[in-house]
Amino acid sequence: MTTPLPISLFPFLLLIPAICFTICHANSNLLCIQSEREALLKFKNHLIDPSNRLSSWVEGGDCCEWTGVVCHNSTGHVKQLHLAASLSDPDGFATYAEREAYYNSRLGGKINPSLLELKHLSSLDLSYNDFSSIHIPKFFGLLESLTYLNLSRAGFDGEIPHNLGNLSKLQYLDLGRNDLRSKSLQWVSGLSSLQYLDLSYLHLFEATDWVQVTFKLPSLLELHLSACGLEDDPSFNSINSSKSLVVLDLSLNFFSSVPKSIFSLHGLVSIDLNDHYLEGPIPDYFGNISFLEVLDLNRNHLNSSIPNSLYSLNRLQFLSLRENQLQGTISSAIGNLSSVTHLDLSDNQLNGQIPWSIGELSSLKLFNVSKNQLNGQIPLSIGQLSSLEVFDVSENQLNGTFPLSFGRLESLETLDCGYNLLEGVVSETHFSNLARLTTLAASHNRLRFEPNSSWIPPFQCEWIELGPWHLGPKFPQWLKFQKNLSYLDISHAGISDVMPTWFLNLPTQFEYLNLSSNQLRGEISYLNVRYIVDLSSNRFIGPLPRVFPTLELLMLSNNSFSGSLFELLCNSSSWKSTAVLYIDKNLISGDIPDCWNHWQDLFLLNLGSNNLTGKIPPSLWHLNLVMLNLSKQYNLSNIVILSLRSNNFDGHIPHKICDLQFPQNLDLAHNNLSGVIPKCFNNLRAMATINKTNNLVLAGFYSAFPDFVFFDDFILKALLVLKGREDEYGSTLGLVTSMDLSANSLTGEIPKEIGSLAGLLSLNFSGNLLTGNIPDSIGNMELMESLDLSMNRLNGEIPPSFSNLNFFNHFNVSYNNLTGQIPTSTQLQSFENLSYMGNHLCGPPLTKNCTSKGISIDVANNGSSREGSKVNWLYVCIVLGFVMGFWGVMAPLFFIRSWRHAYYRKLDHVGRKLCVSWATMGM
Ligand SMILES: *[C@@H]1O[C@H](CO)[C@@H](O)[C@H](O)[C@H]1NC(C)=O
Ligand SMILES: *[C@@H]1O[C@H](CO)[C@@H](O)[C@H](O)[C@H]1NC(C)=O
Ligand SMILES: *[C@@H]1O[C@H](CO)[C@@H](O)[C@H](O)[C@H]1NC(C)=O
Ligand SMILES: *[C@@H]1O[C@H](CO)[C@@H](O)[C@H](O)[C@H]1NC(C)=O
Ligand SMILES: *[C@@H]1O[C@H](CO)[C@@H](O)[C@H](O)[C@H]1NC(C)=O
Ligand SMILES: *[C@@H]1O[C@H](CO)[C@@H](O)[C@H](O)[C@H]1NC(C)=O
Ligand SMILES: *[C@@H]1O[C@H](CO)[C@@H](O)[C@H](O)[C@H]1NC(C)=O
Repeated sequence: MTTPLPISLFPFLLLIPAICFTICHANSNLLCIQSEREALLKFKNHLIDPSNRLSSWVEGGDCCEWTGVVCHNSTGHVKQLHLAASLSDPDGFATYAEREAYYNSRLGGKINPSLLELKHLSSLDLSYNDFSSIHIPKFFGLLESLTYLNLSRAGFDGEIPHNLGNLSKLQYLDLGRNDLRSKSLQWVSGLSSLQYLDLSYLHLFEATDWVQVTFKLPSLLELHLSACGLEDDPSFNSINSSKSLVVLDLSLNFFSSVPKSIFSLHGLVSIDLNDHYLEGPIPDYFGNISFLEVLDLNRNHLNSSIPNSLYSLNRLQFLSLRENQLQGTISSAIGNLSSVTHLDLSDNQLNGQIPWSIGELSSLKLFNVSKNQLNGQIPLSIGQLSSLEVFDVSENQLNGTFPLSFGRLESLETLDCGYNLLEGVVSETHFSNLARLTTLAASHNRLRFEPNSSWIPPFQCEWIELGPWHLGPKFPQWLKFQKNLSYLDISHAGISDVMPTWFLNLPTQFEYLNLSSNQLRGEISYLNVRYIVDLSSNRFIGPLPRVFPTLELLMLSNNSFSGSLFELLCNSSSWKSTAVLYIDKNLISGDIPDCWNHWQDLFLLNLGSNNLTGKIPPSLWHLNLVMLNLSKQYNLSNIVILSLRSNNFDGHIPHKICDLQFPQNLDLAHNNLSGVIPKCFNNLRAMATINKTNNLVLAGFYSAFPDFVFFDDFILKALLVLKGREDEYGSTLGLVTSMDLSANSLTGEIPKEIGSLAGLLSLNFSGNLLTGNIPDSIGNMELMESLDLSMNRLNGEIPPSFSNLNFFNHFNVSYNNLTGQIPTSTQLQSFENLSYMGNHLCGPPLTKNCTSKGISIDVANNGSSREGSKVNWLYVCIVLGFVMGFWGVMAPLFFIRSWRHAYYRKLDHVGRKLCVSWATMGM
């Protein structure tokens, strides 16, 4: 039996190994130099190390054994400090746990000058840490042995200390992705040994000498100046350059033409000019840089044809011209690009045929000409491309058949020929060797595929998109063998069959499932789908299926589902992510249950054309719905709402909102909005017109935000479904217009322009700080059924024009500072005293008689408008309030691997565009 040790002994016991360690190693083979150890400990003491990454750095230890320390193997001097925090995929899509671990592993705090003690330090790597908001210490310029300095993404800010230019032995300098600035790069010219320089994402827009300095560095091989705010400068054209530069990355800057000096860098192997504003033709000069292996001109505004000079670059491996406005045909000279592995010409206006000669590009791995206007047939020569992994010709006008030569592409992983004019029969042979295929996308062609029922595909796809192919009438049995399937679209496929049970029990969870517009029958008890389901327009019966809680979009319209909503809506206490819920045109009966509190992300809800009864439950009104469509019996059938109610939006209502046109109901009540009510509200067309056949949310949305049409490419597959219904609602949507700005802190007068919103049925400005008179023009709003101006600081009289109004149900001007007689009309006198109290009004319906005419005194208008607001209000309004729903649908798409890069790119593009337009809006 062991006796437990007294607790008090523990510290001593722990000391023993430490003492032993020190003594035992003191004289023998301890490499570490005493003064350097102390310097390191001092350095450590000033750091913040939340995950205790430097736990091996202790008094008395051999510092050469410490984490991140490398000593010279004979002298024992500290040579290298590798203290980078690591994250495998920092830009992208690391998991939450990976991110957490990374955040915790970052070092922070202060950097002690004790490092100067390390006289032989040649390599210092502090990248990816979090020295948030300290400057780069000036003493770094004194670490004169340094050959490698990496401070990438380490949270530094401020001016780059110019004395870094004293590090004449430095070969690698990476300061990228910090909040650093430099007005001039003159200091860089001192770095005479420099081979690699990365200043990406720094603020260098004032450093117009960057070409001057960097192109002259005698040893520089690689230069990265991505996203530095660089602009055109005529002086760039006349600079004599060194011949050493091999890699030049200038992506994400603001050039409108390629600086001529680049073309004198004859040794260049890689040029990245993606994402500028390059205009006009692709310069012929690129053809002179004969060693070129990488040319990236992605995302510019280049609008010529592809110059022949490019086709002579026979060392070129990577060529991306995507997202420009290139015209003309693809020359058969493309066959000369004999080294090319990556050829991306997508998203241009190229026409003509895909040249036969692409079959000669024997190294080709990626071929993407999607989103052009190419026609003719897919050349059979592609069958020779034995290394081809990605073949994307989607969204063109290619005709002819689905080429048999696809069957020879053994390396093929992604095949996308969707949205073309292909027709005919596809057979098993077309897929015979495609064992590596993971993405098969060929929807929106006129193809037919009815393999033998015993066919076992050679591939395991994750993504199958065969849209309106003809696959029926039997449910495709071959899907049974797809064990990795996560995206499946076999809508409009002529399938008329009972839904097989094996399908619902497939081992993987779908992320996207679209079986709409077939004639599938049977009951479905559970849908194991993570994000998007569309089963609409089939013949499903029985109770509504249970769904996975992360589901974003559920379309069950136009089936024969029956029973109540209760099971689906209420039978789980977990939060639902669902943004879109369509159960219209079914046989659902019973009450609408009061369980909407778990469905707060919902923004489109359609329960129309069912057999629902009872009252609308209160919890439903708490959702930020944009569109709510309930059964006719509620007599509320078609409401379009922009509701940002009860949030914490602050700042002003931007004038830009008046361009939106779409809201028929604008509800901004119960926020912290300040400033004045925009005069331009009379532009809100839906409210200004008395036309009962107005358009609907999506149409309005797209016209207000054409940029978001970009989403068509991605969501589309899901949202096309919604778009498809635009007409249906466009024609039936009634016009119920209202504006509710109540319970904010709006100041100034009520603009008289409000009076031109003749279609408005309800107006609520109560609970603000509005001053001045009530505009006479409100008396022109003849349709007005409800007006609430209570609890403001309005003064003067109630305008006589109000006697024209036939307020039907609600009128309230209480608690203002109104004076004089209440105008006489049948309506105004029918309201109770409560509607008028807290003023100095007289006459019926009040008992107080008017002695003399009320005097109205104008109170000085204190509605001064604060310029600007903390929050970019419109952004908040649009992005949070409206797009949130869309966003909710799309966010998970990030996790669908095949989409995410393209998607991210698109989003980034939208983001940039929006930023530009916000900036120019001056908000
Ligand atoms: C010390 O390092 C040098 C070069 O880094 C290497 O060639 C040599 O083998 C090393 N010596 C020992 C004992 O590890
Ligand atoms: C700097 O560190 C980052 C992250 O640790 C790394 O990705 C980058 O390549 C390094 N830069 C150089 C020049 O080695
Ligand atoms: C394909 O399109 C081309 C040009 O648009 C046309 O000349 C040709 O007849 C079409 N072929 C088929 C099979 O439809
Ligand atoms: C609709 O509900 C009513 C009463 O609940 C019921 O009598 C009627 O049969 C239902 N109609 C359909 C089509 O289910
Ligand atoms: C109302 O809308 C219809 C259909 O969009 C259109 O033809 C008509 O001109 C509109 N009327 C007014 C007054 O705007
Ligand atoms: C109310 O109006 C009267 C004149 O009608 C004015 O003297 C007074 O200052 C006003 N009070 C407030 C609180 O605005
Ligand atoms: C108000 O006027 C009416 C008639 O004009 C009169 O009968 C009534 O007594 C007056 N009331 C007061 C409180 O002066």
